[in-house]
Amino acid sequence: MGRDVIIACDFPSGEQTLAFLDQFQGKKPFVKIGMELFYAEGPDIVRAIKARGHQIFLDLKLHDIPNTVKKAMAVLSRLDVDICNLHAAGTGEMMRAALEGLTRPDGTRPLLIAVTQLTSTNQEALENELLIDRPMDEVVMAYAENAKAAGLDGVVCSPLEAEKVHARCGADFLTVTPGVRFADGDKGDQKRVMTPAQAKAVGSDYIVVGRPITAAADPVAAYERCLEEFVV
Ligand code: C5P
Repeated sequence: MGRDVIIACDFPSGEQTLAFLDQFQGKKPFVKIGMELFYAEGPDIVRAIKARGHQIFLDLKLHDIPNTVKKAMAVLSRLDVDICNLHAAGTGEMMRAALEGLTRPDGTRPLLIAVTQLTSTNQEALENELLIDRPMDEVVMAYAENAKAAGLDGVVCSPLEAEKVHARCGADFLTVTPGVRFADGDKGDQKRVMTPAQAKAVGSDYIVVGRPITAAADPVAAYERCLEEFVV
């Protein structure tokens, strides 16, 4: 898999999601399914989107004891998704168990990437609530290295961190980056953003784009603009 644009399908129902994807006649964008849609519709929505020929990033951010994560990952792997994720905070033991669970009898498995620290967690919460007294960027890079050491394929991170992650963990360690906006678009609630072209320049492997596509007057044109800036 090379550089690609993943559309965050943050819709509350399967009906809305499939109607949205119906607009992409003949195109099969890579799709991210998050907790809202998965918890509303269950595995059937994953099967339905997969049956239409899309690649799927199932963004469920698992974090539990290693045995539970291993068994849950085995279930997700059978759904034939392309990328899964978990919290690196679950420890190396949990990440290794997740990889075991994901690996199918024929040796294949979905890519597995880690969330390091959520972007909603700030330095103050890191220190006062999580009791981690290191600078956020050090924590993010250390968690990325833990994920790499456990055998994971990459991390979800800001495009602003992509270069540093590649420098620390290797060029082939994937950076999957949300927080992308067009130069002339609305930022919404995202604070630190890059355009698709900037994300390409700093070496992001996948950009995750939601509202700039899903809320656009012409979502197909917005998706194609992302492809032109980021992939071509
Ligand atoms: O609509 P927007 O482009 O902001 O959507 C970005 C997607 O990426 C959403 O599904 C959001 O939950 C996800 N995400 C993010 N920032 C993170 C991790 C995930 O925006 N740090």
